[in-house]
Amino acid sequence: MSDSDQPSQGHLRNEIARRRTFAIISHPDAGKTTLTEKLLLYSGMLRTAGMVGARKGNAASSDWMGMEQERGISITASAMQFPYKDVIVNVLDTPGHQDFSEDTYRTLTAADSVIMVIDAAKGVEDQTRKLFEACRIRRIPVMTFVNKFDLPTRDPLDLMAEVEEVLGIQASARNWPVGSGREFCGVIDRDTNIIELYTKTAAAGAARPEVEHIGMADAAAHPRIGESLAAQLHDELELLKEAGNPYTREAYLAGEVSPVFFGSAFTNFGVEPLFDSLIKVAPCPSERKATTSKGEDIIVEPDETKFAAFVFKLQANMNPKHRDCVAFLRVNSGVYRKELSVKHQRSGKKFAMPSPHSLVVNERSTVVEAYPGDIIGIISKGQFAIGDTILEKGDYQFEPLPRFQPELFARVRPSDLGKQKGFQKGIAQLGAEGAVQLLYDWRNPQGEPIVAAVGRLQFEVLQYRMEDEYGVKTMVDMLPYSCSAWLEGDYETFDKPTTARLVQDADDRPLLLFGNRWEKDYAAKNNPDHKLLDIY
Ligand code: G4P
Repeated sequence: MSDSDQPSQGHLRNEIARRRTFAIISHPDAGKTTLTEKLLLYSGMLRTAGMVGARKGNAASSDWMGMEQERGISITASAMQFPYKDVIVNVLDTPGHQDFSEDTYRTLTAADSVIMVIDAAKGVEDQTRKLFEACRIRRIPVMTFVNKFDLPTRDPLDLMAEVEEVLGIQASARNWPVGSGREFCGVIDRDTNIIELYTKTAAAGAARPEVEHIGMADAAAHPRIGESLAAQLHDELELLKEAGNPYTREAYLAGEVSPVFFGSAFTNFGVEPLFDSLIKVAPCPSERKATTSKGEDIIVEPDETKFAAFVFKLQANMNPKHRDCVAFLRVNSGVYRKELSVKHQRSGKKFAMPSPHSLVVNERSTVVEAYPGDIIGIISKGQFAIGDTILEKGDYQFEPLPRFQPELFARVRPSDLGKQKGFQKGIAQLGAEGAVQLLYDWRNPQGEPIVAAVGRLQFEVLQYRMEDEYGVKTMVDMLPYSCSAWLEGDYETFDKPTTARLVQDADDRPLLLFGNRWEKDYAAKNNPDHKLLDIY
């Protein structure tokens, strides 16, 4: 591409301003998939909704791997891009299954904001808490959607209190449910005091419901609301006015307040106010931190015209006919175009950007241009690692992707001892790719590694791929540790519980393995001069 082909900075700024790159996080079954589907419905990408059940039955939409088909779940995070009203949304898919893995966390590094979905009957669940913690550390703005209001729910005020208590963030209701369970019929906007009153369609959630707008003052006279529900609503809103947290966009963008919305992804009640608010207040792509080869910390603005991106995920065998791997890049500045001459910062090698494969509703399509906030997948023959920086110009590396404390540990060995060579090659490559973490005895990186993971599924993927790609059947013997922490401070003076084990990660950093949470908390309390880190 010649310089005259460079898009103007004005054009680039316009494209940046209309992008929203976000992830939807939730505990399994809270409704993430249904909500994503409704975003597609409201954007006009889907004519009718209702594929969630079909997806679970035949796994037709996102299978790239035999095992995934069998289990009917989405194993590796991918992205979808489509227009929603005036903006272009990039939705990053974070696998929400029980067996979620490091990919789920890593995906968050490519997101500018997050929608957190909570089941109104269950409140904040375990996986939500873990994912939220990763958002909090990176100060990613989080919007909360309290879902399933068409079913029996907990008290919405209780749910808000729980969000605050468990997640340690202020919650500020941006709208409020009118009724709950069978009586749930709308949401009231807290700024305008206008109720969006919905009427279910015959197709129950497959199409948009009819919407009627009425003012709070007219609520009691409306046949669908009536005096008693209107009085209850009035009292709840008064209470919120007195005791609720104030909301400002600045506080949301700073990760201090989570705006809360209520609704039902299944019936579509309350989903449009959530989406509309997201495109209005969620951040567009902004600056990213980087370090030059001389060790200087710098800021890379998205409207710098030179292309810069980082690899946040590698996914093997997208196409089972080819032994390729797709590296997913998030664009941080400039514009991607095919054949653009770039540098792989880690190796210093120059190359021409190949045609990308961008996943749009799980179909590969060739995109022509990509702007900051966009996700592109390019074929990798093993040259990319997670966290790699790719630059059109300059000499810097984006800040490294954090590592997340593994919770499962195992010794893995080949079932057939004659296959040692293939086994070692496979483990080393899958470790480098980030499919699992490899740990070594402290100061003995040549020894046999301990294989560690955030979720059990990572071991299953490892075994599947070792056999499928390297022809090695493996056995996994779990080790008796269930949590870990990186040690900051002098390891020699650390008073380690006798049952804990000190190992080193792939970057030679000390990591402690503990049998249980109690042991870890005890060690932390006993060593006030050291820090135990869950995320490095
Ligand atoms: P996930 O991706 O977070 O795991 O959740 P998913 O959307 O798959 O939803 C889990 C189940 O909850 C699905 O039911 C889905 O239909 C249902 N669900 C999601 N949102 C709502 C809601 O607002 N109200 C009600 N009543 N149900 C909701 P399923 O039985 O597992 O699948 P399906 O056969 O009903 O599609």
